[in-house]
Amino acid sequence: MADTDDLSAGGRFEPTVPARAEISRLKGSTALDWGMQSRLARVFRPETGRTVMLAIDHGYFQGPTTGLERVDLSIVPLLPYADALMTTRGMVRSTIPPTSRTPVVLRASGGPSILKELSDEQLAVSMEDAARLNAAMVAVQVFIGGEHETQSVHNMTRLVDEGQRYGIPVLAVTAVGRDLTRDARYLRLATRICAELGAHAVKTYYCAEDFDTVTAACPVPVVMAGGKKLPELEALTMAYRAVEAGAAGVDMGRNIFQSVHPAAMIRAVASVVHESVKPEEAYDLLLERGE
Ligand code: 5RP
Repeated sequence: MADTDDLSAGGRFEPTVPARAEISRLKGSTALDWGMQSRLARVFRPETGRTVMLAIDHGYFQGPTTGLERVDLSIVPLLPYADALMTTRGMVRSTIPPTSRTPVVLRASGGPSILKELSDEQLAVSMEDAARLNAAMVAVQVFIGGEHETQSVHNMTRLVDEGQRYGIPVLAVTAVGRDLTRDARYLRLATRICAELGAHAVKTYYCAEDFDTVTAACPVPVVMAGGKKLPELEALTMAYRAVEAGAAGVDMGRNIFQSVHPAAMIRAVASVVHESVKPEEAYDLLLERGE
């Protein structure tokens, strides 16, 4: 029999206290459903609205990349320092410990290898499998100005439709072909198209001039892509300038896992992104921790 002895109406109704309503500070997300906002809050720290995403998905088109030969040895120890891990379902199932608390941003497009035309991608993961893997977000490459531009945009819009059904947000990754210029004009075009067509966040490259116009014109969070390996101080400076110009953090791969001190580097990047530590100071920290 149910124990109903101390069941009473209670007195703590506080009728004069308005109901608490915490609104997400993440750009463009206030009208999203609860599941979407919750997943975004796992990727973008609610305190700063920014993320340090560690990108290790390179193998999906270029095979074993320097620094990713053994993800179990090189990347797994870095997981506690990353706000999110961008990777493939193959790597998640084979190598990433399910006990890790770092959310996964799942690479969901693919097809061509570096031996072929890269823009010829198709969707490579179903949203059902993304949900099964507890993905916090899915990522899709969009090739604005590329040979298969429309197909890649269509991949993204289909993924957004599916993401809306499952409450899983979509990160559009703007891939810049070799013959395109990574200037603010191009990046504004690419990021805005992705956002207009439904991406919940956009990853794009940094440009030294007018990057603030790229972030301002994009109604959803812009995450700075890392790109090829730079000297650590330069990479930290680029991250610093990007967040100062309105980026909601970074998604860096080679600049972290190809560093001589990957753990110290990701921690230095996090101090720049989340605490606005100046790049020189973050670099000093890196040297201290890397010894
Ligand atoms: C290409 C990608 C990558 O596969 C990867 O995430 C790139 O990381 P990085 O350039 O920082 O090494 O998204 O656009």
